[in-house]
Amino acid sequence: MIQIAPSILSADFSRLGEQVRMVEDAGAEVLHIDIMDGHFVPNLTFGPALVKSIRAHSRLRFDVHLMVEEPERYITDFAAAGADHITFHLETSLHVHRVIQQIKEQGMTAGIALNPATPLDGIKYILEDLDMVLLMTVNPGFGGQKFIPNVIPKIQVLHRHLEQLESACQIEVDGGINLETAPVAVKAGAHILVAGAAVFAQSDPKQAVVKLRQAADSVNKE
Ligand code: DX5
Ligand code: ZN
Repeated sequence: MIQIAPSILSADFSRLGEQVRMVEDAGAEVLHIDIMDGHFVPNLTFGPALVKSIRAHSRLRFDVHLMVEEPERYITDFAAAGADHITFHLETSLHVHRVIQQIKEQGMTAGIALNPATPLDGIKYILEDLDMVLLMTVNPGFGGQKFIPNVIPKIQVLHRHLEQLESACQIEVDGGINLETAPVAVKAGAHILVAGAAVFAQSDPKQAVVKLRQAADSVNKE
């Protein structure tokens, strides 16, 4: 089943608790939390304190997307704050295997993110250790950008490869996912759809989650 992961990056921060409850009530399985450091990406967002404060109000699976240099410095803090899963970028670490082990030692699942231009080759020998691969469908740093269609063949190749391996590793797509692009990503093999603007920039975020799921499920039935 396809999972919907609303990204709080586009939420109204003045009423974050309420916004998170809305998407939880709408049936989203995952809450995507974008952490940006102003170095790896030009933008800044939140830290573990915010994760801790929403943890008390939500039972959603917390999917922390680290867009930070030296990700190993932040693993324990996000675990303590209540993260269920951490994804870090391949481009940010020389010791990818070690960081994956650190995440797992803290009782969380682990994912690697790849920028649109980064080939799949770099994860070939660590695929068995991963619970998720996040394929960026925009350049990381900002919400509300346009889906990059050139990533579609990358989703297809990874999907086929994981099927051959009979792997349970999931493919998450992140960036520019909306009612038009969600079915395209699902058709290519995505399992988890991150959606920021397509949920929280809508007048009714609850209905937006329901519609995204319908769009994703319409592909499965084909
Ligand atoms: C971008 C972030 C995304 C962002 C997606 O760097 O990683 O998670 O929230 O936003 P939309 O869905 O608006 O493209
Ligand atoms: Zn993200």
